[in-house]
Amino acid sequence: MCGIVACILKDKDAAPVLLSCVKRLEYRGYDSVGIATSSKNIEIKKDEGKIDDVQKRLELTDLPGKMGIAHVRWATHGLPTKENAHPHTDCKKRIAVVHNGIIENYRELKDQLIREGHEFRSETDTEVIPHLIEKYMATGSDLEEATRLTTHDIKGSYAIAVISADEPDKIIGVRKESPLIVGKGEDEYFLASDAPAILKHTNRIIYLNDNEMVLLTGEGITVKDVDGNPIEKEIDLIDWTPDMAEKGGYDHFMLKEIHEQPDAVKKTLMELQDIKEMVENFPKFNRICFVACGTSYHASLVGKYLFEGLVGIPTDVLLASEFEFSAGALDEKTLAIFISQSGETADTLRALRMANETAQTLAIVNVLGSTATREADHVIYTRAGPEIGVAATKTYVSQLTCICLLALSMAGEEKLLEDIQHVPDHMKLALEAEDQIREIAKKYKDAEDFFFIGRGYSYPTAMEGALKLKEITYIHGEGYAAGELKHGPLALIDDDVPVVAVVPPGDSHDKTLGNLQEVKARGASVIALGSSDDEVLKSEAHEMIEFSGELNEVLSPIVYVVPLQLLSYHMSVERGIDPDKPKNLAKCVTVE
Ligand code: F6R
Repeated sequence: MCGIVACILKDKDAAPVLLSCVKRLEYRGYDSVGIATSSKNIEIKKDEGKIDDVQKRLELTDLPGKMGIAHVRWATHGLPTKENAHPHTDCKKRIAVVHNGIIENYRELKDQLIREGHEFRSETDTEVIPHLIEKYMATGSDLEEATRLTTHDIKGSYAIAVISADEPDKIIGVRKESPLIVGKGEDEYFLASDAPAILKHTNRIIYLNDNEMVLLTGEGITVKDVDGNPIEKEIDLIDWTPDMAEKGGYDHFMLKEIHEQPDAVKKTLMELQDIKEMVENFPKFNRICFVACGTSYHASLVGKYLFEGLVGIPTDVLLASEFEFSAGALDEKTLAIFISQSGETADTLRALRMANETAQTLAIVNVLGSTATREADHVIYTRAGPEIGVAATKTYVSQLTCICLLALSMAGEEKLLEDIQHVPDHMKLALEAEDQIREIAKKYKDAEDFFFIGRGYSYPTAMEGALKLKEITYIHGEGYAAGELKHGPLALIDDDVPVVAVVPPGDSHDKTLGNLQEVKARGASVIALGSSDDEVLKSEAHEMIEFSGELNEVLSPIVYVVPLQLLSYHMSVERGIDPDKPKNLAKCVTVE
C-alpha cells in the first residue's frame, strides 16, 4: 500500500541507503519506485516496475546528496506509469514529496490549483501536495509552515515526507491515518513506513501519532502537532534484528516464514501469563465480536468455535469492511477483538474507532507500536517477528495461538493449555511433508479450479488454504464448509477440479469423510489432510498428507494449515510466480 522512506545522513550519499531501505518496503507495493535527493537542486529518478528492474534501467543509486526521500507504489489513483510514480514535485521542481495514503479531496484542490496557474504532470492525488506547499512558500512561508498549512487543506489519509531545494537541510514528515515512524541513528535520521525498513541503521524508534509532524535536520528531530505546538516523544528500542528481515538462505521470504512457524508459535505461547492476568481483570462479557480482514478474518473464525464451544459466549465474526453496516448491537458488555498482522489495515482501524465508542476493545497485532495497538483498550502481541512475504503465514498461526490462549484461559481449560505447548512440535512434523507436497504441487499446478473443504474447526483452515492458493498461484480456489457443497457447488465438481479435504480426527471427521466420498463420486481427485493412523481416509484419498502424533481437534487449525501454505507456495513457484510479490496485492492495506 505504498512505502516511504527518508533520510539525512552524516557523511555518505543518501540514494544507496534509500534504495536498500525501500527494498525492505517492497512488500507494501511494487508497481513503481522512485528516489529524490536534494543538494542544490532536487534530483529525481523514478519509473514503473519492480525495484530491481528499475535499478538496472536507471541506476537509482546514482544521485547526489546526503539526504532524500524514496517511495514504492501500489497504485490507487492513476495507472502504474513513470509519470504517476513518486516522488512528485511542484511546478519549478524545487519541492518533492512521497506519500502513502489517499487525498480524498484532491479533485477540488487540483481544479483550484490549475485555476491558479499550476501545471500537473500526473494523474495522482499526491501531486496536489507539492503544489500546495509551493503556493504557501510563494507567499512567504518556510517549508515547515507551508507543509503545516497544506495539511489543513488536504482531507484523507497520509504519511508524507517532503524536501525542498530551497531549504536543503530539512526533511518534513507528517502522519494522519497512514503509518510513519522516525529512526534516530548516530547523527543520522530516518523516516519510514515501518521499522524493519531502517533496522540496519537504527533500532531507536519514535512512533508518530495522527496529526503529528516531524522535522529532521542534521542536528536532530523535532516533533510538533499540525498546529505547531511542540510534543515530547519517547524513543523506543525495538528488539527485532536486521537479519529477521532477510531471506536467510531460503529462495523466498514466504518459505522462510513458513519454516519459522514452530518458533513463532513457541514465542507467542510465552504470552500466556500476561493473557491470564488480562483475563482475570476482564469484566463479565456477554458477547464477543471479532473484526478483521483476509487471513486475520480466518483466524477470527476459529475464535468463534472456541468462544462459543468452550467459553460459552455468543460470538460474531465480522469483516472489518462490513463492520459499519452490521455491528449495531455492540455495548459495554461486548469484547470486540480486532485481529491484524500489521495493525494498520484501514478497514480494521475504522471499525476499531467505531467500536471504541461503545465496547471494550482488544487488538491482537504483530507490529509493535502500530496504530491498532495504540488505539485499542487492550493489546496482545503475536510474537511472529517481521513478516515480509505478502501472503500471511507465520502471523496467522501466531494469531491462532493468541486466540486459543485467550479462549482457553477464559474457559479455564488447563489440559488444553498444556496440550498447546506441544503444538510447535506438531508443526515441525508437518513441515517434514514438504518433499511430498512439492510433488503434489507439480502434479496439480495446471488445475484451473480447486475446492478446499472442512467442517467445524477445519472450515476456517479450508478457507485459508483457498485464499493462499488464490493470492499466490492465481488459481481459483474456494473454501467451503464440507456439508454445504451439496447445496450448490457440487454442480461444479468433476474430474478437472481437485478437492483438498481437511479431515483431522475429532467430531467433524466422519461427516467430512462422507462429503469427501460425494466429491470423489463426481470424479474429483482428493488431496486429504489427516492423521497417519487414519486408514479409512488413506484408502479414500488420491493423495494423503499425514499428521503423526495426537492432536486435539481444537488445536488442529494451527498445524493443519502448514501443508496448505506449502502447497500454494510450491504451486506458485512451479507456475513461475514470485510468491513474495503476487500481482495487485500489498501487505499492508491502508485504504478502505
Ligand atoms: C493474505 C493476507 C491478507 C491480510 C489482510 C489483513 O495472505 O495477508 O488477507 O490478512 O489484508 O491484514 P492485517 O492482518 O495486517 O490487518
